[in-house]
Amino acid sequence: MHCDTPGRKGKISTCFDCNGSVDVLIHTASRTEAVIIMSKRKPKDSHLTVGECVSQVQRLLRGRFCHQQLPSEPAGVESQHKHLLELLKRTAIHGESNSVLIVGPRGAGKTMLLNCVLKELMEENEVKKNVLLVHLNGLLQTDDRIALKEITRQLHLENVVGDKVFGSFAENLAFLLEALKKGNRSSSRPVLFTLDEFDLFAHHKNQTLLYNLLDISQSAQAPIAVVGLTCRLDVLELLEKRVKSRFSHRQIHLLNPLGFQHYLSTARLQLSLPQDFPDCRFAEEWNASIKALCEDKSAEAVLRKHFNSSKDYRSLNKLLMLTLSRVTVSNPTVRSADLLEASRLCTADAKANILHGLSILELCLIIAMKHLNDIYDGEPFNFQMVHNEFKKFIQRKSHSVHNFEKPVVIKAFEHLQQLELIRPMDGSSAKTQKEYQLVKLMLDHTQIMEALQKYPQCPTDVKQWAMSAFG
Ligand SMILES: Nc1ncnc2c1ncn2[C@@H]1O[C@H](COP(=O)(O)OP(=O)(O)OP(=O)(O)O)[C@@H](O)[C@H]1O
Ligand SMILES: [Mg+2]
Repeated sequence: MHCDTPGRKGKISTCFDCNGSVDVLIHTASRTEAVIIMSKRKPKDSHLTVGECVSQVQRLLRGRFCHQQLPSEPAGVESQHKHLLELLKRTAIHGESNSVLIVGPRGAGKTMLLNCVLKELMEENEVKKNVLLVHLNGLLQTDDRIALKEITRQLHLENVVGDKVFGSFAENLAFLLEALKKGNRSSSRPVLFTLDEFDLFAHHKNQTLLYNLLDISQSAQAPIAVVGLTCRLDVLELLEKRVKSRFSHRQIHLLNPLGFQHYLSTARLQLSLPQDFPDCRFAEEWNASIKALCEDKSAEAVLRKHFNSSKDYRSLNKLLMLTLSRVTVSNPTVRSADLLEASRLCTADAKANILHGLSILELCLIIAMKHLNDIYDGEPFNFQMVHNEFKKFIQRKSHSVHNFEKPVVIKAFEHLQQLELIRPMDGSSAKTQKEYQLVKLMLDHTQIMEALQKYPQCPTDVKQWAMSAFG
Protein backbone atom coordinates (compact mmCIF):
# COMPACT_ATOMS: atom_id res chain seq x y z
CA MET A 1 0.00 0.00 0.00
CA HIS A 2 1.20 3.54 -0.69
CA CYS A 3 0.67 6.78 1.12
CA ASP A 4 -0.07 9.78 -1.06
CA THR A 5 -0.53 12.37 1.65
CA PRO A 6 1.45 15.43 0.57
CA GLY A 7 4.76 15.38 2.39
CA ARG A 8 4.40 11.76 3.46
CA LYS A 9 4.88 9.67 0.33
CA GLY A 10 6.01 6.08 0.86
CA LYS A 11 5.09 2.48 1.63
CA ILE A 12 2.68 1.89 4.45
CA SER A 13 2.66 -1.01 6.85
CA THR A 14 0.51 -1.53 9.88
CA CYS A 15 1.29 -3.04 13.21
CA PHE A 16 -0.82 -3.85 16.20
CA ASP A 17 0.52 -2.84 19.53
CA CYS A 18 -0.18 -4.64 22.77
CA ASN A 19 -3.29 -2.58 23.40
CA GLY A 20 -4.83 -3.58 20.14
CA SER A 21 -4.64 -0.10 18.59
CA VAL A 22 -3.27 0.14 15.08
CA ASP A 23 -0.19 2.17 14.31
CA VAL A 24 0.66 2.99 10.76
CA LEU A 25 4.27 3.01 9.79
CA ILE A 26 5.20 5.03 6.74
CA HIS A 27 8.44 3.89 5.20
CA THR A 28 9.89 6.76 3.22
CA ALA A 29 13.17 6.62 1.45
CA SER A 30 15.00 8.35 4.25
CA ARG A 31 13.36 7.09 7.43
CA THR A 32 10.51 5.17 8.90
CA GLU A 33 7.96 7.50 10.36
CA ALA A 34 5.55 6.15 12.89
CA VAL A 35 2.26 7.94 12.88
CA ILE A 36 -0.76 6.85 14.78
CA ILE A 37 -3.39 7.66 12.23
CA MET A 38 -6.24 5.52 13.30
CA SER A 39 -7.27 3.21 15.98
CA LYS A 40 -9.37 0.44 14.45
CA ARG A 41 -10.11 -1.44 17.61
CA LYS A 42 -11.10 -0.14 20.97
CA PRO A 43 -8.04 -0.36 23.18
CA LYS A 44 -8.27 -3.35 25.52
CA ASP A 45 -7.13 -1.50 28.59
CA SER A 46 -10.02 0.91 28.71
CA HIS A 47 -10.74 2.11 32.20
CA LEU A 48 -14.17 1.17 33.37
CA THR A 49 -15.79 2.66 36.42
CA VAL A 50 -15.70 0.59 39.60
CA GLY A 51 -19.43 -0.12 39.19
CA GLU A 52 -18.92 -1.47 35.67
CA CYS A 53 -15.97 -3.58 36.81
CA VAL A 54 -17.91 -5.04 39.70
CA SER A 55 -20.86 -5.95 37.50
CA GLN A 56 -18.48 -7.57 34.97
CA VAL A 57 -16.85 -9.54 37.80
CA GLN A 58 -20.26 -10.65 39.07
CA ARG A 59 -21.38 -11.74 35.61
CA LEU A 60 -18.20 -13.61 34.82
CA LEU A 61 -17.74 -15.39 38.13
CA ARG A 62 -21.43 -16.22 38.56
CA GLY A 63 -21.26 -17.92 35.16
CA ARG A 64 -18.38 -19.98 36.49
CA PHE A 65 -20.06 -20.93 39.76
CA CYS A 66 -23.68 -21.42 38.77
CA HIS A 67 -23.94 -22.18 35.07
CA GLN A 68 -21.89 -25.36 35.13
CA GLN A 69 -19.45 -23.96 32.59
CA LEU A 70 -17.01 -26.61 31.50
CA PRO A 71 -13.43 -26.01 32.60
CA SER A 72 -10.98 -25.84 29.68
CA GLU A 73 -8.92 -28.56 31.36
CA PRO A 74 -10.67 -30.73 33.96
CA ALA A 75 -8.14 -30.77 36.76
CA GLY A 76 -7.20 -33.97 38.55
CA VAL A 77 -9.04 -36.35 36.23
CA GLU A 78 -6.62 -36.49 33.31
CA SER A 79 -6.33 -40.28 33.17
CA GLN A 80 -10.10 -40.78 33.39
CA HIS A 81 -10.56 -38.17 30.68
CA LYS A 82 -8.11 -39.95 28.38
CA HIS A 83 -9.67 -43.34 29.05
CA LEU A 84 -13.21 -42.20 28.29
CA LEU A 85 -12.18 -40.22 25.23
CA GLU A 86 -10.39 -43.21 23.72
CA LEU A 87 -13.32 -45.45 24.44
CA LEU A 88 -15.88 -43.16 22.81
CA LYS A 89 -13.57 -42.47 19.89
CA ARG A 90 -13.54 -46.17 19.15
CA THR A 91 -17.30 -46.11 18.78
CA ALA A 92 -17.50 -42.77 17.03
CA ILE A 93 -14.72 -43.38 14.50
CA HIS A 94 -14.25 -47.13 14.21
CA GLY A 95 -17.82 -48.18 14.88
CA GLU A 96 -16.91 -50.43 17.82
CA SER A 97 -19.60 -50.92 20.44
CA ASN A 98 -18.80 -50.28 24.06
CA SER A 99 -20.26 -49.87 27.50
CA VAL A 100 -18.80 -48.11 30.50
CA LEU A 101 -19.85 -46.84 33.91
CA ILE A 102 -18.61 -43.62 35.48
CA VAL A 103 -18.89 -44.00 39.24
CA GLY A 104 -18.28 -41.30 41.82
CA PRO A 105 -19.92 -39.45 44.70
CA ARG A 106 -22.24 -36.48 44.13
CA GLY A 107 -20.45 -33.41 42.80
CA ALA A 108 -17.32 -35.40 41.94
CA GLY A 109 -17.53 -34.21 38.33
CA LYS A 110 -19.08 -37.16 36.49
CA THR A 111 -21.32 -35.02 34.29
CA MET A 112 -18.52 -32.51 33.82
CA LEU A 113 -16.09 -35.24 32.72
CA LEU A 114 -18.57 -36.71 30.25
CA ASN A 115 -19.44 -33.29 28.81
CA CYS A 116 -15.77 -32.36 28.45
CA VAL A 117 -15.08 -35.60 26.59
CA LEU A 118 -18.15 -35.18 24.35
CA LYS A 119 -17.15 -31.60 23.58
CA GLU A 120 -13.66 -32.68 22.59
CA LEU A 121 -15.03 -35.58 20.58
CA MET A 122 -17.46 -33.38 18.69
CA GLU A 123 -14.70 -31.02 17.68
CA GLU A 124 -13.65 -33.57 15.07
CA ASN A 125 -15.52 -32.93 11.87
CA GLU A 126 -16.00 -36.53 10.90
CA VAL A 127 -17.46 -37.36 14.30
CA LYS A 128 -19.71 -34.32 14.34
CA LYS A 129 -21.28 -35.29 11.03
CA ASN A 130 -21.74 -38.92 11.90
CA VAL A 131 -22.37 -39.48 15.57
CA LEU A 132 -25.76 -39.19 17.26
CA LEU A 133 -26.18 -38.47 20.94
CA VAL A 134 -29.00 -39.63 23.19
CA HIS A 135 -29.12 -38.33 26.76
CA LEU A 136 -31.33 -40.12 29.23
CA ASN A 137 -31.74 -39.44 32.92
CA GLY A 138 -33.14 -41.88 35.43
CA LEU A 139 -34.92 -39.05 37.20
CA LEU A 140 -36.82 -38.06 34.05
CA GLN A 141 -37.36 -41.30 32.17
CA THR A 142 -38.98 -43.19 35.00
CA ASP A 143 -40.05 -46.17 32.91
CA ASP A 144 -38.88 -47.82 29.72
CA ARG A 145 -41.84 -46.68 27.64
CA ILE A 146 -41.03 -43.04 28.38
CA ALA A 147 -37.36 -43.73 27.74
CA LEU A 148 -38.13 -45.22 24.33
CA LYS A 149 -40.27 -42.22 23.41
CA GLU A 150 -37.42 -39.95 24.42
CA ILE A 151 -34.91 -41.94 22.37
CA THR A 152 -37.21 -41.67 19.35
CA ARG A 153 -37.55 -37.93 19.90
CA GLN A 154 -33.84 -37.32 20.30
CA LEU A 155 -33.06 -39.33 17.18
CA HIS A 156 -35.71 -37.34 15.27
CA LEU A 157 -37.49 -40.52 14.24
CA GLU A 158 -41.05 -39.67 15.30
CA ASN A 159 -42.16 -39.45 11.68
CA VAL A 160 -40.51 -42.72 10.74
CA VAL A 161 -42.16 -44.57 13.60
CA GLY A 162 -45.55 -42.93 13.00
CA ASP A 163 -48.40 -45.16 14.19
CA LYS A 164 -46.50 -48.43 13.89
CA VAL A 165 -47.22 -50.98 16.57
CA PHE A 166 -44.37 -53.13 17.79
CA GLY A 167 -44.51 -56.54 19.38
CA SER A 168 -41.79 -55.90 21.89
CA PHE A 169 -39.45 -53.30 23.23
CA ALA A 170 -36.51 -55.00 21.48
CA GLU A 171 -38.28 -54.85 18.11
CA ASN A 172 -38.98 -51.16 18.57
CA LEU A 173 -35.39 -50.35 19.48
CA ALA A 174 -34.02 -52.46 16.63
CA PHE A 175 -36.35 -50.61 14.24
CA LEU A 176 -35.00 -47.27 15.45
CA LEU A 177 -31.39 -48.32 14.96
CA GLU A 178 -32.20 -49.82 11.57
CA ALA A 179 -33.73 -46.50 10.53
CA LEU A 180 -30.41 -44.84 11.22
CA LYS A 181 -28.58 -46.94 8.65
CA LYS A 182 -26.99 -45.11 5.79
CA GLY A 183 -28.56 -45.02 2.34
CA ASN A 184 -26.67 -48.05 1.07
CA ARG A 185 -27.55 -49.99 4.26
CA SER A 186 -23.88 -50.91 4.63
CA SER A 187 -23.19 -49.17 7.89
CA SER A 188 -25.06 -47.55 10.68
CA ARG A 189 -24.45 -44.21 12.33
CA PRO A 190 -22.86 -44.61 15.75
CA VAL A 191 -25.12 -43.64 18.65
CA LEU A 192 -23.79 -42.63 22.06
CA PHE A 193 -26.29 -43.29 24.83
CA THR A 194 -25.62 -41.51 28.12
CA LEU A 195 -27.65 -42.71 31.08
CA ASP A 196 -27.42 -40.30 34.00
CA GLU A 197 -28.52 -41.73 37.36
CA PHE A 198 -27.90 -45.15 35.84
CA ASP A 199 -28.91 -47.00 39.01
CA LEU A 200 -32.50 -45.77 38.67
CA PHE A 201 -32.87 -47.57 35.33
CA ALA A 202 -32.23 -50.81 37.19
CA HIS A 203 -35.58 -50.37 38.95
CA HIS A 204 -37.52 -50.43 35.66
CA LYS A 205 -39.64 -53.50 35.01
CA ASN A 206 -37.46 -56.40 33.88
CA GLN A 207 -34.64 -53.89 33.22
CA THR A 208 -35.75 -54.06 29.60
CA LEU A 209 -34.03 -50.90 28.42
CA LEU A 210 -30.72 -51.80 30.04
CA TYR A 211 -30.93 -55.35 28.76
CA ASN A 212 -31.57 -54.26 25.19
CA LEU A 213 -28.99 -51.49 25.10
CA LEU A 214 -26.28 -53.65 26.62
CA ASP A 215 -27.25 -56.54 24.37
CA ILE A 216 -26.80 -54.38 21.28
CA SER A 217 -23.53 -53.00 22.64
CA GLN A 218 -22.27 -56.58 22.84
CA SER A 219 -23.43 -57.85 19.50
CA ALA A 220 -22.49 -56.41 16.15
CA GLN A 221 -26.00 -55.11 15.32
CA ALA A 222 -25.20 -51.42 15.39
CA PRO A 223 -22.31 -49.34 16.75
CA ILE A 224 -23.47 -47.92 20.05
CA ALA A 225 -21.77 -46.84 23.24
CA VAL A 226 -23.61 -46.93 26.55
CA VAL A 227 -22.21 -44.60 29.20
CA GLY A 228 -23.81 -44.84 32.62
CA LEU A 229 -23.27 -42.29 35.37
CA THR A 230 -23.97 -43.20 38.93
CA CYS A 231 -22.97 -42.48 42.50
CA ARG A 232 -23.68 -46.01 43.69
CA LEU A 233 -20.55 -48.09 44.05
CA ASP A 234 -22.63 -51.25 44.27
CA VAL A 235 -24.52 -50.54 41.07
CA LEU A 236 -23.59 -53.88 39.49
CA GLU A 237 -25.37 -55.69 42.30
CA LEU A 238 -28.59 -54.07 41.14
CA LEU A 239 -28.37 -55.57 37.67
CA GLU A 240 -30.12 -58.81 36.77
CA LYS A 241 -27.82 -61.67 35.81
CA ARG A 242 -28.66 -61.51 32.10
CA VAL A 243 -28.07 -57.74 32.08
CA LYS A 244 -24.88 -57.92 34.10
CA SER A 245 -23.41 -60.53 31.79
CA ARG A 246 -23.88 -58.21 28.83
CA PHE A 247 -22.08 -55.29 30.47
CA SER A 248 -18.40 -54.86 29.62
CA HIS A 249 -17.52 -54.28 33.29
CA ARG A 250 -15.50 -51.21 32.40
CA GLN A 251 -15.72 -48.69 35.19
CA ILE A 252 -14.19 -45.27 35.57
CA HIS A 253 -13.98 -44.09 39.17
CA LEU A 254 -13.94 -40.47 40.25
CA LEU A 255 -13.10 -40.52 43.89
CA ASN A 256 -12.17 -36.93 44.72
CA PRO A 257 -8.56 -37.38 45.73
CA LEU A 258 -8.28 -33.59 46.12
CA GLY A 259 -5.69 -32.55 48.73
CA PHE A 260 -6.03 -29.31 50.69
CA GLN A 261 -3.32 -27.46 48.76
CA HIS A 262 -5.06 -28.39 45.51
CA TYR A 263 -8.38 -27.27 46.99
CA LEU A 264 -6.85 -23.94 47.97
CA SER A 265 -5.36 -23.36 44.54
CA THR A 266 -8.68 -24.33 42.92
CA ALA A 267 -10.46 -21.74 45.07
CA ARG A 268 -7.91 -19.14 44.01
CA LEU A 269 -8.21 -20.09 40.35
CA GLN A 270 -12.01 -20.01 40.50
CA LEU A 271 -11.98 -16.49 41.96
CA SER A 272 -9.28 -15.09 39.66
CA LEU A 273 -10.09 -12.95 36.66
CA PRO A 274 -8.85 -13.94 33.20
CA GLN A 275 -6.31 -11.93 31.23
CA ASP A 276 -8.88 -10.69 28.77
CA PHE A 277 -10.91 -8.89 31.45
CA PRO A 278 -11.92 -5.51 30.00
CA ASP A 279 -10.06 -3.48 32.62
CA CYS A 280 -6.49 -4.74 33.01
CA ARG A 281 -5.66 -2.65 36.01
CA PHE A 282 -8.76 -3.73 37.94
CA ALA A 283 -8.09 -7.38 37.05
CA GLU A 284 -4.50 -7.10 38.30
CA GLU A 285 -5.60 -5.57 41.58
CA TRP A 286 -8.38 -8.10 41.97
CA ASN A 287 -6.07 -11.06 41.32
CA ALA A 288 -3.51 -9.68 43.76
CA SER A 289 -6.22 -9.35 46.41
CA ILE A 290 -7.36 -12.94 45.77
CA LYS A 291 -3.76 -14.12 46.13
CA ALA A 292 -3.47 -12.25 49.42
CA LEU A 293 -6.81 -13.69 50.55
CA CYS A 294 -5.71 -17.26 49.90
CA GLU A 295 -2.54 -16.64 51.90
CA ASP A 296 -4.47 -15.11 54.78
CA LYS A 297 -4.55 -17.42 57.81
CA SER A 298 -8.17 -16.80 58.79
CA ALA A 299 -9.40 -17.33 55.21
CA GLU A 300 -7.37 -20.51 55.03
CA ALA A 301 -8.98 -21.71 58.26
CA VAL A 302 -12.45 -21.15 56.78
CA LEU A 303 -11.55 -23.03 53.63
CA ARG A 304 -9.99 -25.85 55.65
CA LYS A 305 -13.16 -26.21 57.71
CA HIS A 306 -15.19 -26.35 54.53
CA PHE A 307 -12.74 -28.80 52.97
CA ASN A 308 -13.00 -31.10 55.97
CA SER A 309 -16.77 -31.27 55.71
CA SER A 310 -16.99 -31.71 51.92
CA LYS A 311 -14.26 -31.77 49.34
CA ASP A 312 -16.30 -31.55 46.18
CA TYR A 313 -16.31 -28.70 43.70
CA ARG A 314 -20.03 -28.11 43.98
CA SER A 315 -19.92 -27.11 47.63
CA LEU A 316 -16.78 -25.05 47.02
CA ASN A 317 -18.61 -23.22 44.25
CA LYS A 318 -21.53 -22.58 46.59
CA LEU A 319 -19.20 -21.09 49.19
CA LEU A 320 -17.49 -18.88 46.61
CA MET A 321 -20.83 -17.81 45.17
CA LEU A 322 -22.02 -16.60 48.58
CA THR A 323 -18.69 -14.84 49.06
CA LEU A 324 -18.98 -13.17 45.68
CA SER A 325 -22.46 -11.89 46.45
CA ARG A 326 -20.91 -9.67 49.13
CA VAL A 327 -18.77 -7.86 46.57
CA THR A 328 -20.28 -4.45 45.84
CA VAL A 329 -19.15 -1.05 44.59
CA SER A 330 -18.34 0.04 48.12
CA ASN A 331 -16.52 -3.22 48.75
CA PRO A 332 -14.90 -4.11 45.43
CA THR A 333 -12.59 -6.87 46.75
CA VAL A 334 -13.08 -10.13 48.58
CA ARG A 335 -12.11 -9.91 52.23
CA SER A 336 -11.62 -12.80 54.60
CA ALA A 337 -14.61 -11.53 56.60
CA ASP A 338 -16.77 -12.10 53.49
CA LEU A 339 -15.55 -15.65 53.24
CA LEU A 340 -16.28 -16.19 56.92
CA GLU A 341 -19.81 -14.84 56.56
CA ALA A 342 -20.40 -17.00 53.48
CA SER A 343 -19.22 -20.05 55.35
CA ARG A 344 -21.58 -19.20 58.19
CA LEU A 345 -24.47 -18.98 55.73
CA CYS A 346 -23.46 -22.29 54.15
CA THR A 347 -23.47 -24.12 57.42
CA ALA A 348 -26.47 -22.29 58.89
CA ASP A 349 -29.12 -24.58 60.20
CA ALA A 350 -32.18 -24.52 57.93
CA LYS A 351 -34.60 -24.96 60.83
CA ALA A 352 -32.95 -22.21 62.86
CA ASN A 353 -33.45 -19.98 59.83
CA ILE A 354 -37.15 -20.79 59.77
CA LEU A 355 -37.37 -19.69 63.41
CA HIS A 356 -36.23 -16.20 62.42
CA GLY A 357 -39.36 -15.79 60.35
CA LEU A 358 -41.83 -16.73 63.08
CA SER A 359 -44.14 -14.31 64.85
CA ILE A 360 -43.66 -13.61 68.57
CA LEU A 361 -46.71 -15.75 69.39
CA GLU A 362 -45.33 -18.70 67.41
CA LEU A 363 -41.96 -18.25 69.07
CA CYS A 364 -43.64 -18.28 72.48
CA LEU A 365 -45.36 -21.57 71.61
CA ILE A 366 -41.99 -23.05 70.64
CA ILE A 367 -40.56 -21.95 73.99
CA ALA A 368 -43.57 -23.42 75.81
CA MET A 369 -42.89 -26.71 74.01
CA LYS A 370 -39.23 -26.52 74.97
CA HIS A 371 -40.29 -26.28 78.62
CA LEU A 372 -42.73 -29.17 78.20
CA ASN A 373 -39.87 -31.21 76.78
CA ASP A 374 -37.81 -30.35 79.87
CA ILE A 375 -40.62 -31.23 82.26
CA TYR A 376 -41.73 -34.48 80.62
CA ASP A 377 -38.33 -35.56 79.38
CA GLY A 378 -39.06 -35.38 75.65
CA GLU A 379 -42.45 -37.14 75.82
CA PRO A 380 -45.03 -36.03 73.23
CA PHE A 381 -47.53 -33.36 74.24
CA ASN A 382 -50.72 -31.82 72.88
CA PHE A 383 -51.96 -28.32 72.08
CA GLN A 384 -53.82 -27.99 75.32
CA MET A 385 -50.65 -28.50 77.35
CA VAL A 386 -48.78 -25.97 75.24
CA HIS A 387 -51.58 -23.47 75.62
CA ASN A 388 -51.62 -23.89 79.42
CA GLU A 389 -47.88 -23.32 79.55
CA PHE A 390 -48.27 -20.21 77.41
CA LYS A 391 -51.11 -18.87 79.60
CA LYS A 392 -48.96 -19.35 82.71
CA PHE A 393 -46.26 -17.25 81.12
CA ILE A 394 -48.68 -14.48 80.15
CA GLN A 395 -50.16 -14.33 83.64
CA ARG A 396 -46.98 -14.55 85.64
CA LYS A 397 -44.09 -13.14 83.72
CA SER A 398 -44.98 -11.34 80.58
CA HIS A 399 -45.40 -7.62 80.22
CA SER A 400 -44.99 -7.36 76.50
CA VAL A 401 -46.87 -10.29 74.96
CA HIS A 402 -50.54 -9.84 74.27
CA ASN A 403 -53.00 -12.36 75.70
CA PHE A 404 -54.21 -13.89 72.44
CA GLU A 405 -57.60 -15.58 72.03
CA LYS A 406 -57.54 -19.36 71.82
CA PRO A 407 -58.46 -19.60 68.08
CA VAL A 408 -55.51 -17.32 67.28
CA VAL A 409 -53.20 -19.54 69.28
CA ILE A 410 -54.58 -22.63 67.51
CA LYS A 411 -53.89 -21.00 64.14
CA ALA A 412 -50.30 -20.29 65.19
CA PHE A 413 -49.93 -23.89 66.38
CA GLU A 414 -51.20 -25.17 63.02
CA HIS A 415 -48.76 -22.95 61.21
CA LEU A 416 -45.90 -24.50 63.15
CA GLN A 417 -47.22 -27.88 62.10
CA GLN A 418 -47.28 -26.80 58.45
CA LEU A 419 -43.67 -25.69 58.74
CA GLU A 420 -42.92 -29.16 60.12
CA LEU A 421 -41.39 -27.69 63.26
CA ILE A 422 -43.82 -29.95 65.09
CA ARG A 423 -45.04 -33.31 63.85
CA PRO A 424 -48.06 -35.35 64.89
CA MET A 425 -47.07 -38.63 66.48
CA ASP A 426 -47.48 -41.76 64.39
CA GLY A 427 -50.63 -43.59 65.23
CA SER A 428 -52.42 -40.62 66.80
CA SER A 429 -55.79 -41.04 65.20
CA ALA A 430 -57.34 -38.37 63.03
CA LYS A 431 -60.52 -38.73 65.07
CA THR A 432 -58.93 -37.24 68.18
CA GLN A 433 -59.92 -33.65 68.74
CA LYS A 434 -57.30 -31.29 67.31
CA GLU A 435 -56.34 -29.84 70.68
CA TYR A 436 -55.56 -33.25 72.12
CA GLN A 437 -53.59 -34.78 69.28
CA LEU A 438 -50.13 -35.77 70.41
CA VAL A 439 -47.27 -33.96 68.71
CA LYS A 440 -43.50 -33.79 69.01
CA LEU A 441 -41.14 -30.84 68.69
CA MET A 442 -38.64 -31.28 65.85
CA LEU A 443 -36.05 -28.84 67.23
CA ASP A 444 -33.45 -29.25 69.92
CA HIS A 445 -32.60 -26.78 72.65
CA THR A 446 -29.47 -25.35 71.11
CA GLN A 447 -31.30 -24.61 67.85
CA ILE A 448 -33.98 -22.71 69.76
CA MET A 449 -31.56 -20.78 71.94
CA GLU A 450 -29.31 -19.82 69.00
CA ALA A 451 -32.26 -18.67 66.94
CA LEU A 452 -33.53 -16.59 69.87
CA GLN A 453 -30.24 -14.77 70.17
CA LYS A 454 -30.54 -13.64 66.57
CA TYR A 455 -34.29 -13.03 66.46
CA PRO A 456 -34.74 -9.36 65.58
CA GLN A 457 -36.02 -7.35 68.55
CA CYS A 458 -37.02 -10.29 70.67
CA PRO A 459 -38.72 -8.99 73.87
CA THR A 460 -36.49 -9.46 76.90
CA ASP A 461 -39.15 -11.22 78.97
CA VAL A 462 -39.60 -13.84 76.22
CA LYS A 463 -35.82 -14.41 76.15
CA GLN A 464 -35.71 -14.73 79.91
CA TRP A 465 -38.61 -17.17 79.87
CA ALA A 466 -36.75 -19.30 77.33
CA MET A 467 -33.65 -19.34 79.51
CA SER A 468 -35.41 -20.08 82.80
CA ALA A 469 -35.42 -23.71 83.86
CA PHE A 470 -38.80 -25.48 83.70
CA GLY A 471 -40.76 -22.44 82.55
N1 LIG B 1 -12.16 -31.48 38.05
C1 LIG B 1 -12.97 -30.42 38.04
N2 LIG B 1 -12.53 -29.21 37.65
C2 LIG B 1 -13.34 -28.14 37.66
N3 LIG B 1 -14.63 -28.15 38.03
C3 LIG B 1 -15.13 -29.31 38.42
C4 LIG B 1 -14.35 -30.52 38.45
N4 LIG B 1 -15.12 -31.52 38.91
C5 LIG B 1 -16.33 -30.98 39.14
N5 LIG B 1 -16.34 -29.67 38.85
C6 LIG B 1 -17.51 -28.75 39.00
O1 LIG B 1 -18.29 -29.22 40.09
C7 LIG B 1 -19.67 -29.11 39.81
C8 LIG B 1 -20.35 -30.46 40.00
O2 LIG B 1 -19.90 -31.39 39.03
P1 LIG B 1 -20.87 -32.42 38.28
O3 LIG B 1 -22.21 -31.81 38.05
O4 LIG B 1 -20.15 -32.95 37.10
O5 LIG B 1 -20.99 -33.55 39.40
P2 LIG B 1 -21.65 -34.97 39.28
O6 LIG B 1 -20.63 -35.97 39.68
O7 LIG B 1 -22.28 -35.14 37.95
O8 LIG B 1 -22.73 -34.91 40.42
P3 LIG B 1 -24.17 -35.63 40.47
O9 LIG B 1 -23.92 -37.03 40.92
O10 LIG B 1 -24.92 -34.85 41.51
O11 LIG B 1 -24.78 -35.54 39.12
C9 LIG B 1 -19.79 -28.59 38.39
O12 LIG B 1 -20.06 -27.22 38.44
C10 LIG B 1 -18.41 -28.84 37.80
O13 LIG B 1 -18.09 -27.88 36.82
MG1 LIG C 1 -24.24 -35.32 37.26
